[in-house]
Amino acid sequence: MAKYFLLYSSSYYDLAVTIKHLMMSLGYDDVYIFDEPTQEQTTTHIKRTLESCDGVVALYGPPAKPADGVREMDGAEYPRNEAHIAIGARKPLSLIVHRGTRLPDFLRDHATWVCFDFWDPVDFQKKVDHIVRQLLGFKAAVEKQRCRASSYGLLPENPFSGYLDQNSVLFHKVNGAVNKITRSDHPVIPTKYLFAHADSYRLYGNLIDSKTYTMAKEGEVLFAKYCTNLVEELRKATRNTQKLTVVSLGIGMGKKEQFFLEGLCEQGLDVLFLAIDINPAFIQSSLQEVRAKMCQSQVANQWEYQFMIGDFDGIEHVRQLLPPDRPVLFLALGGTFGNQDEAVFLNRLSRSSEEVYLLMDFQTKESFDGPDKGGYESRANREFIQKIVQGFCNEVVEIENISGRYLEDLHEIHKTPLSSVPNAKTLVMVGETNSHRKKYVGYSTRYDHDSLTSFLRNERCEILHTMQDHALHTHIMLCRVGH
Ligand SMILES: C[S@@+](CC[C@H](N)C(=O)[O-])C[C@H]1O[C@@H](n2cnc3c(N)ncnc32)[C@H](O)[C@@H]1O
Repeated sequence: MAKYFLLYSSSYYDLAVTIKHLMMSLGYDDVYIFDEPTQEQTTTHIKRTLESCDGVVALYGPPAKPADGVREMDGAEYPRNEAHIAIGARKPLSLIVHRGTRLPDFLRDHATWVCFDFWDPVDFQKKVDHIVRQLLGFKAAVEKQRCRASSYGLLPENPFSGYLDQNSVLFHKVNGAVNKITRSDHPVIPTKYLFAHADSYRLYGNLIDSKTYTMAKEGEVLFAKYCTNLVEELRKATRNTQKLTVVSLGIGMGKKEQFFLEGLCEQGLDVLFLAIDINPAFIQSSLQEVRAKMCQSQVANQWEYQFMIGDFDGIEHVRQLLPPDRPVLFLALGGTFGNQDEAVFLNRLSRSSEEVYLLMDFQTKESFDGPDKGGYESRANREFIQKIVQGFCNEVVEIENISGRYLEDLHEIHKTPLSSVPNAKTLVMVGETNSHRKKYVGYSTRYDHDSLTSFLRNERCEILHTMQDHALHTHIMLCRVGH
């Protein structure tokens, strides 16, 4: 299902509502108009919604109804700024213009647009057939482009791959799975589902931006600082390979991935970059952004960029997509390693290719020492979990603080600890609704550096390099994954 953003100015809000209805009756499934300004997040929210939509329709007119006799006027600031962001993000855009509005340079060359008096119902009636034709043509063009994007890089044999479409197998799988868990007596909602909701991209973006959730920022600081050294270590380990496949496991917002790619680009490597994520919105937006930035360099402009919508639980299937003539480096960034059963995860990676490397960041147990457990118990994180679970079960969800009591319960239910690494510490949130029983959701594991190192060695991994900053609790580790 394609998503569209309809831009307008409040001076012609009624027209925007009419056009929205018209679009819906022409078969547009999802048309968003921004009519509930949400305090301080407004610009970020608009930017993110624009980035995650498939097409933009802009009603471009003046900030107020023009006085009689005025023939020419400037457009309102708001649809103009938003249209500018949309064009910067390379979104297809369809323009509908109020008669006499001067177009800014970036819109002037825009191919087709229909024009009428936004405040004159008779003029609207006269032009309605043009508007309908333009909207139908635009919808067809956007959908064609989406089809091309969604069929790229997918493996039909892989049961975990899907399409960038809410009618997809994957979409139904996720919704079905979470609904089943929330309705059943099953006590645990796996962490991955926090990222798999249609709203996860926006809500996770807000979480990352919040001041109290400092973990994500720490990782970015470390990557910006050390990626040159990491690239050097990797080059040594791969005997100065010129060709490399880089697979991002969970691209999220793609910031750290981008720092690392820039390091590879500086060394002139030939890269195939494959982004994998359970949620198409992360791929669509972040991969596009990473690619647009990287393509500004002549070297990275030659690289190949692919994606796969999929679940790490089927990661070994990726083997079919990887060229056999080069090493593969998996990036598990943003604490992703600590959201998995580590032993199972490593085993799957080892089966995906002949020469496998893993670059991950993780947090130490000390990061849980602060009052909000290093951001994990922050209001922002609790709200993130609450909104997502609520989104799935359509009911108010109370999220309680974590406590040892719940973890003990959870271990009792699971019969095994959540992490296979000795001395690790796992935290989990507890959600409860009126009609569903208590659920454990969103666990995060932090490590003792030495215990993690010996665990990795036991799992036949060779530690090539670790990086840490004494002021931070985040570490980066590069290792070769053994078979
Ligand atoms: C914690 S974020 C990390 C994002 C980014 N790599 C970073 O460093 O900021 C985890 C990402 O992995 C994806 N993800 C989580 N579990 C997954 C799974 N089982 N399969 C595929 N993707 C998953 C999420 O959708 C999200 O984009």
